[in-house]
Parts: sequence; structure tokens; C-alpha cells
Amino acid sequence: MNIIVTGGAGFIGSNFIFHMLKEHPDYRIICLDKLTYAGNLSTLEPVMDNPNFRFVKLDICDREGVYKLFEEEYPDMVVNFAAESHVDRSIENPEVFLQTNIIGTATLMDACRKYGIQRYHQVSTDEVYGDLPLDRPDLFFTEETPIHTSSPYSSSKAGADLLVLAYHRTYGLPVTISRCSNNYGPYHFPEKLIPLMIINCLHDKPLPVYGEGLNVRDWLYVEDHCRAIDLIIHNGKVGEVYNVGGHNEMKNIDIVKLICKELGKPETLITHVTDRKGHDMRYAIDPTKIHNDLGWLPETKFADGIKKTIQWYLDNEDWWQPIVSGEYQDYYEKMYKNR
Ligand code: NAD
Ligand code: TYD
Repeated sequence: MNIIVTGGAGFIGSNFIFHMLKEHPDYRIICLDKLTYAGNLSTLEPVMDNPNFRFVKLDICDREGVYKLFEEEYPDMVVNFAAESHVDRSIENPEVFLQTNIIGTATLMDACRKYGIQRYHQVSTDEVYGDLPLDRPDLFFTEETPIHTSSPYSSSKAGADLLVLAYHRTYGLPVTISRCSNNYGPYHFPEKLIPLMIINCLHDKPLPVYGEGLNVRDWLYVEDHCRAIDLIIHNGKVGEVYNVGGHNEMKNIDIVKLICKELGKPETLITHVTDRKGHDMRYAIDPTKIHNDLGWLPETKFADGIKKTIQWYLDNEDWWQPIVSGEYQDYYEKMYKNR
């Protein structure tokens, strides 16, 4: 089995590559990644010498380059993680989100049509469903929940999902889509809530909580997400969407307090800053379908996963220190100064 994994130098894609090389040692994995600010080749160092692994620096929007790679590798499957993934950046500059997330998805699927494929899998997000109100804890996102996006990021992901389903109906492309809730774990880029708070805590820097911090996210340990995708690409039904989430809803403020506690830092570091524009209130996945159809269940409890994650950041300063001392500094200044 030859699998192209796009965006494999990013957070979830790299965890997925490690998972696949371990669980399927006879598979060949080809990582295609543009290495944007969010892609980090050092993350893939542990597998660079694996004879079943190949890294190719390429933009998923580069049609010629993508077709050439298909001619070299004739993949059986494509799993598309490559995306601009940060909501705050999408609010500052939507264009690159439309380019990578929508045009890039179409380019990959065109290559799949041209050269043939057993499965094209689109890694999507629960954010395509918009948000749920805080006062209706009985409501969850199912696969039938209407698409109703809030941010340029989620709109671009929803646009891609619609294209994927259209390529299935129109051209018969064998696709699946997974829509997962917020992930956390090793190699998470420090612009996102959990790693940002851990690293700021370690530096005794203010912890910038947007608004009151009452927004709820449904957190899933990254390895559980990787297992879900592995199941879907092997046993999932073509043309179907699968929601992935572990019923682990937490308020942002409670997560930040927990990180302070685990690291022995005072809650006085918490600083409430101007809220995100269009900030989604609550995400909550109903994972009944993937549980009933594919037998998937999350394995890592949040209490354990967050401890493991904090420990990983403590043990792997070599990974994150070069990131936060580079252009990330300018990003942080721009996004958080005067907020
Ligand atoms: P990430 O930002 O950490 O990584 C994205 C990767 O894609 C990087 O390696 C980057 O270099 C690469 N990339 C970006 N543009 C590219 C392009 N044009 N061509 C080739 N490569 C490109 O993102 P992540 O958090 O790992 O998310 C991966 C996928 O999972 C995304 O599609 C995202 O929408 C989805 N998702 C993320 C979460 C989450 O909590 N992080 C939850 C659900 C779904
Ligand atoms: P984030 O990790 O950006 O993921 P998403 O917006 O895709 O859910 O943010 C998670 C939550 O944390 C979200 O409600 C916004 C909030 N947040 C903060 O309060 N402060 C921050 O500095 C960041 C990055 C996020």
C-alpha cells in the first residue's frame, strides 16, 4: 500500500505518519508538505531514514508537481491534512486559506481522478458545523447537522468538504471525510491554545484568554484521531462523513487553570484579552456513527492526555524553542500586543 499523506510535517499529520509506520510496517508513506510556518521538518527526523518513508517538499496547489509525484508513486490512497489551520490567522488574512484549503484540495482530487485511486480521505473539522449555544448542553454535532460556518478558516474547510462530496457524486471519486473536534498532544504548534499556554507558563508570561474564557471545545488526544482516520480509510464506507470526538467538553478558562496547576504557576498569570471576532461558543461532537459502524472509541482520558502533553513540552524544548524564538515572535507581537 502506497499512501500520500499531505501536511505530514504539521501537528496531526506527523502524528499520523508515526502511527501508520508503526501499525502498518509494510506500507510506504510519502509525505507531501510545503513546509509553511506550521510545517517542521525536524518533527519527521525520527522517520527520515525509514526505507518505507519519503518526504517531498511540495505545495498541494502546484498541479504540475502533484501530477509528477503521482506519476512517480502511483499512490493507493491520499490522506489530506495539508491546510492553513489557525482561525486567528484566517481572520487576519483569509486568502491563503482559500488557496490551500479549497484549491489545494481540488488539485489533489484532480490528480486522483487522472491517475486513479482507491481512496481519497479529507481531514476536516467540526468547525464546519458552526457553534452550539452554551445553554443547550443537550445539543451535539451529528453528520446531519447543517454546515453553518463562522470564520474564514471554517468556511474554507466547509468549501473543501462540499467539493469532496461533489467529486464523489459527479466523478465517482472514492472519498471519505472525517470531521474531528480539537486535538491536543505532541508537536502541536505553539500558536494554538494548549501549547501556547504551556510555553507561556514556562516563561512566566501572561496567559492571554480571549474574553471570559467560557467558550467550550471538545478535546481529543491526537493519537485517538489518528486511529480513527486509520479505521476510516480501511473500513469506512465510500462517500460517507464520520464525526470524531470523545465527549470531552472543557471551558478554555478551566484548561488554562489546569495547566497553571500542573506547572505550579499562579493563576495571576491569566490575562483576559479582547475576544476573537465571531468567536464560536461551543463545539461538541456526537461520535455515535463512528462508534457503531467502525467500533472506534477514544482511549486517552483528558486527565492523562494533558499530563502527557505537558510532560512532552517539558522534555522537548529542543523542538519548540527554535519555533518560538524565530518569526513566531513577530506573529505574537502582532496578534497579542494592544489586545
Ligand atoms: P498544522 O497547521 O499543524 O499543519 C498543517 C501542515 O500543512 C503543515 O505542515 C504545513 O506546512 C502544511 N501545508 C500548509 N499549506 C500547504 C500547502 N499549500 N501545500 C502543502 N502543505 C501545506 O495543522 P494541524 O493542526 O495538524 O491540522 C491538520 C488538518 O487537520 C487540517 O486540515 C485541519 O483543518 C484539520 N483539523 C485540525 C484540528 C486541530 O485541532 N488541530 C481539528 C480537526 C481538524
Ligand atoms: P485554538 O487552539 O485556536 O483552536 P480553535 O479556535 O480552532 O478551537 O483555540 C481554542 C480556544 O482557545 C478558542 O476558543 C480560542 C481560545 N484561545 C484563547 O483564549 N487564547 C489564545 O491565545 C488562543 C490561541 C486561543
